[in-house]
Amino acid sequence: MPEATFHFPHDFRWGVATAAHQVEGNNANNDWWAWEQQPGHIAQGDTSGLACTWWEDAEADFARAAALGTNALRLSVEWSRVEPQPGTFDEGALGRYVEMVEALRQRGIEPMVTLHHFTNPRWLAEQGGWEQPETVDRFARFVERVVEALGPTCDLWCTINEPNVYAYQGYLAGAWPPGASEWGTAMTVMRHLLLGHAAAYRAIHEVQPEARVGFAHNMQIFDPARPRSPLDRFVTSIIDRAYNQAILSSLKRGLWTPPLGFGLALKLRGTLDWIGLNYYTRELVAFDRTRSEALFSRRLHGDDAEMLDGGYGELYPQGMMRCLERLAQLDLPIYITENGIPDDDDDQRPRHLLTHLHQLWHAIQRCYPVMGYYHWTLVDNFEWAEGWTLRFGLIALDPETQVRTPRRSAFLYATIIRANAITPQAIDAYAPELRPELLPGPDG
Ligand code: GCO
Repeated sequence: MPEATFHFPHDFRWGVATAAHQVEGNNANNDWWAWEQQPGHIAQGDTSGLACTWWEDAEADFARAAALGTNALRLSVEWSRVEPQPGTFDEGALGRYVEMVEALRQRGIEPMVTLHHFTNPRWLAEQGGWEQPETVDRFARFVERVVEALGPTCDLWCTINEPNVYAYQGYLAGAWPPGASEWGTAMTVMRHLLLGHAAAYRAIHEVQPEARVGFAHNMQIFDPARPRSPLDRFVTSIIDRAYNQAILSSLKRGLWTPPLGFGLALKLRGTLDWIGLNYYTRELVAFDRTRSEALFSRRLHGDDAEMLDGGYGELYPQGMMRCLERLAQLDLPIYITENGIPDDDDDQRPRHLLTHLHQLWHAIQRCYPVMGYYHWTLVDNFEWAEGWTLRFGLIALDPETQVRTPRRSAFLYATIIRANAITPQAIDAYAPELRPELLPGPDG
C-alpha cells in the first residue's frame, strides 16, 4: 500500500513572518529603542542594534526566502519611520517600503504588510500611546498614508499584531514598554487597539476597496493543571476567555465582551476579511488564592511536556488544531500568520515543522479555510525582552558579523514547499522518529 503523502491546496501560501523592529536595525525613533537602552529591560543587556540590517538590505534576505521557494512574506511597516513627528510624513521612508514590497513581487513573493507590530513612535508614546482614544484616529491617518503608497503593490493587510500580547506584556506583566501593571489600563489599551483595527480596516477599504484586511491573533492553549479540580477548571476558563476569546467575540458581535468591557462596540462589526492565527504553545493553569493580580491563577507546564529553548513554552502541535477548531467558527479565511520555536541547535525544529504542518493538513481536510502558513521566522532576529537569547530563524544569524548560516530546518521547509506536501521521504530524512505518528502502518 503506497504510503501517505499529505498534499496542500495548489494555491497555498508558503511564507515566513517578520516584524520591522526585529529585523530592520537602528530603529531609534520608537518606544522600544528607548526601552532597550534602560538597564534591566532586555536579557543580557542586549539591544536590537543592527538587527538583520533590513533597512539597508532586506533584498538579500528576500533572495534567501525566494531560494527556499516561499511565495509569501509577512513584514511590518515601522510607524516611527513613516511619521517621525505627528503629522509629518517621511516620503523617503515610505519610498523604502515601496522598494521592499516591489522587491518581493519581483521575486514572486506576495507581501502581507502588518501596520502595527508592538512599536510606537516616541512622540506617540510620550502622549500616552494606546491609553489615549486619540491614538485610534492617529493610527488610521498613518495607515491611510501607507496604503496610498504601497497599495499598487500590496492588497493583503494585517492591521495590528497581537493586541492581547501587547496589552498583557506592556500593561499587566510590565515586561514591555511602558512597563505598567494596571488591569483597568490594560483593558482600555486593548479596547483602543481593537478600535484602531476597525478604523484601519475602514481607512484601507476607502483607499483600496479590493483590499483583504485582517489582524494577527495570538492564541494559546490553556488546560487545567488538575482536570478534576473545579477551581483549576474555573480559572482556566477565565484566562482562556480573557486571552483568546474576548477579542474575537467583541469583533464578531460588535459588543464589548468582558473583561474587555461592557456595552456596544458596533464599530468593530464587519471589520475582518480574514483572521490570522499566531500559534506557539500551551500552558497549564492552576488555581492560586495568593495571586489575585493574576486572576488567582498560576501558569505552569506539565512534567511530561517537551520544553523549548529558554522555557519559551512546550512543543504542543495538537494546539494548532484546537485553535483552528475555534477560529473556523468565524467563517473567515484563516492565515497562520506566525508559528515557530526558538531552537538554536535546530534539534526540535524539524519535528516542530512536520507535526504542526501535519495538524494544518488535517485541518484543511476538515475544510477549514486555511489559506497559508507564515513560519516565524526566516532569520534569527531581536526577540523583544529576550533580546538575542532566543533564536527562531530557519537561518542562523551572528548579529555582530551579520553572517547567516541556514539551519537544517531551512532545507526541510524548502523540501515541503517544493513538494507542496509532507512526503514520507521528508519525514524519513528529517524526523524518522515521527514515522509511527505520521505514517502509521496498515494496522494503524
Ligand atoms: C510575538 C510576536 C513576534 C515574536 C514571535 C516569537 O508573537 O511575540 O508576533 O514578534 O518575535 O512570536 O516570540
